[in-house]
Amino acid sequence: MLDKYRPGEKIKLYDSFTAKYELQQDIKESLLQNFKQNGLGTPDLIEGDFFETVPDKLASQYAFVHIDCGVGGNSILHQKIIIHLLNHVYPRLSKGAIMLFMDYHDHEKTLRGQPINIGVKAACDQFFKDKAEKVITLYGNHYSHGYILKT
Ligand SMILES: C[S@@+](CC[C@H](N)C(=O)[O-])C[C@H]1O[C@@H](n2cnc3c(N)ncnc32)[C@H](O)[C@@H]1O
Repeated sequence: MLDKYRPGEKIKLYDSFTAKYELQQDIKESLLQNFKQNGLGTPDLIEGDFFETVPDKLASQYAFVHIDCGVGGNSILHQKIIIHLLNHVYPRLSKGAIMLFMDYHDHEKTLRGQPINIGVKAACDQFFKDKAEKVITLYGNHYSHGYILKT
């Protein structure tokens, strides 16, 4: 979408790139390869721990943000990371921006998905309790997602 409608602007990807997955030796290489194979421009990789890269390496404004930072079962740490990201990214969302939360699961509203990362909703409940925006659940089949629309 950026290549077509906003050529010159790059998608920014923040990650430590240190996670190990069974079938992938080098996730950064594999990620870049995926972009190349799909004929897309190279994304901006902002490599490092979020507590070091955020807020220093943030852009001034975002129209779309996807938060997907599951840390393998430690929901308290996951919640802490998301609160850190929200504290710094939310003020940089432009009006009408969308912020998407991977694994946001609401027992009462989510259809079919599973509460696999409960730190996501815990962080959102904490952060959005005094904000105008409320998280809206998305249908994700066996996954769960939520998003906000910045007012
Ligand atoms: C479930 S993976 C998702 C990765 C990517 N969004 C995707 O869809 O392939 C979660 C990612 O969060 C990253 N992560 C978790 N905690 C982090 C932290 N404190 N700083 C930087 N990256 C972190 C991990 O390195 C991992 O790649």
